[in-house]
Amino acid sequence: MSKIIINGNKELTGEVKISGAKNSAVALIPAAILARNKSIIYNVPEISDIDYLLNIMELLNCKIEHKNDSLIIDSSNIINKPIPEELSVQMRASYYFMGVLLAKFGKVEISFPGGCNIGARPIDIHIKGFEELGAKVEIVKNRYTITAEELKGKKIYFDFPSVGATINIMLAAVGAKGTTIIENAATEPEIVNVASFLINMGVKIRGAGTKTIEIEGTKELDNGVCEVFPDRIESGTYIIIGALLGKDLKIKGIIKEHIEALLMKLEEIGIKYKIENDTLTISKCDNIKSTYIKTLVFPGFPTDLQQPMTTLLTQAHGKSIIEETLYENRFKNTYDLNRMGAVTNVLSLNKLEIKGPRKLKGTKVIATDLRGGASLLIAGLIAEGTTEIENSEYILRGYGNVIGKLKSIGADVEICE
Ligand code: EPZ
Repeated sequence: MSKIIINGNKELTGEVKISGAKNSAVALIPAAILARNKSIIYNVPEISDIDYLLNIMELLNCKIEHKNDSLIIDSSNIINKPIPEELSVQMRASYYFMGVLLAKFGKVEISFPGGCNIGARPIDIHIKGFEELGAKVEIVKNRYTITAEELKGKKIYFDFPSVGATINIMLAAVGAKGTTIIENAATEPEIVNVASFLINMGVKIRGAGTKTIEIEGTKELDNGVCEVFPDRIESGTYIIIGALLGKDLKIKGIIKEHIEALLMKLEEIGIKYKIENDTLTISKCDNIKSTYIKTLVFPGFPTDLQQPMTTLLTQAHGKSIIEETLYENRFKNTYDLNRMGAVTNVLSLNKLEIKGPRKLKGTKVIATDLRGGASLLIAGLIAEGTTEIENSEYILRGYGNVIGKLKSIGADVEICE
């Protein structure tokens, strides 16, 4: 188990470069299986979730070559094998192998984790989508065997605009005969990222990024080239850090349109920033106002920034309320925030109250999930004294080279196994 140790309250200045988006990369890598034989993916983040995925790709006999921040994936000798539980339960995004192996071979066998620390997170919308396309789904405990003599395109309505299900059904629809239309699709940037990769391979897709996506089943695909979009959640996390400790801190490689909800909220609470091209410059704000935040699907306020934002609001003047509408258990970080001196109160499964400003004091804390860990990391950076974060591997799942990046802008931070 790794532990991050922080001596807090240092002024952070200089430049930090945003890495490729975890939630795009974990879909693009399995999608490479659909290419004729070889695909290149640029700007792949160095995070542990990618390593888990590559283990599965190698199990399926795909050849992976690393070249700087790119991956060259050769799937010409791919073998469809049951994916063992110990590999597929390590991360939720292993579910993308369902869509690609169904499209490529008409069969996939994989174990899938149940809930996690932030909620039940079922995959019923994915499964219903596969069945609508003509697949047969057998579930024994958490082992899924999905087969299809022939996938046939059709119009599918999503009861909820699930990011994962939108991508998974888009992937499966590539192998279907005819046209598939997804209504009430998710519109997150990662959908557009994956669609652009498939279009590059020769798949006709229209409407990615909107509520209605049309996919033409395509037999013979070309090879694909794509670039992972910059990580909008990593961008938001460093912007929040800059608002708390920055001195002209530069965050390079952002896409403004992907973080509008956060930027509007920061302006509303008095935080100033400047954007030139793909670089945002921000300094510590001494008079942060309290606010009300409701997490929503894109382009609303992203649930993945809810926990980092909670830490920022411990420094706001007055009472803030956060309503978490995506997950039913995403306030676990507040237990340790309160032990550091914050005053937060879980009012209900999806409502949190935060009173500030409060001086935080360093202490030993435990990360419970990826973004909860990020919330504690930010708290350690602003706290007086030393903070030790146990289970820091959660943080390494979604923040590439986080220790190196923080050190490069002046943080006093170390990681030890
Ligand atoms: C993706 O998860 C992200 N993960 C999550 O980021 C992110 O929080 C989420 O999208 C929302 O933006 C990856 O992309 C790997 P959903 P996903 O399907 O696809 C319910 C992070 O910190 N739901 O849009 O699983 C589900 O329970 C992670 O980077 C169903 O009920 O999200 C949840 O309440 C955390 N049935 C809501 O929808 C389904 O079949 C959102 O889920 C699918 C989802």
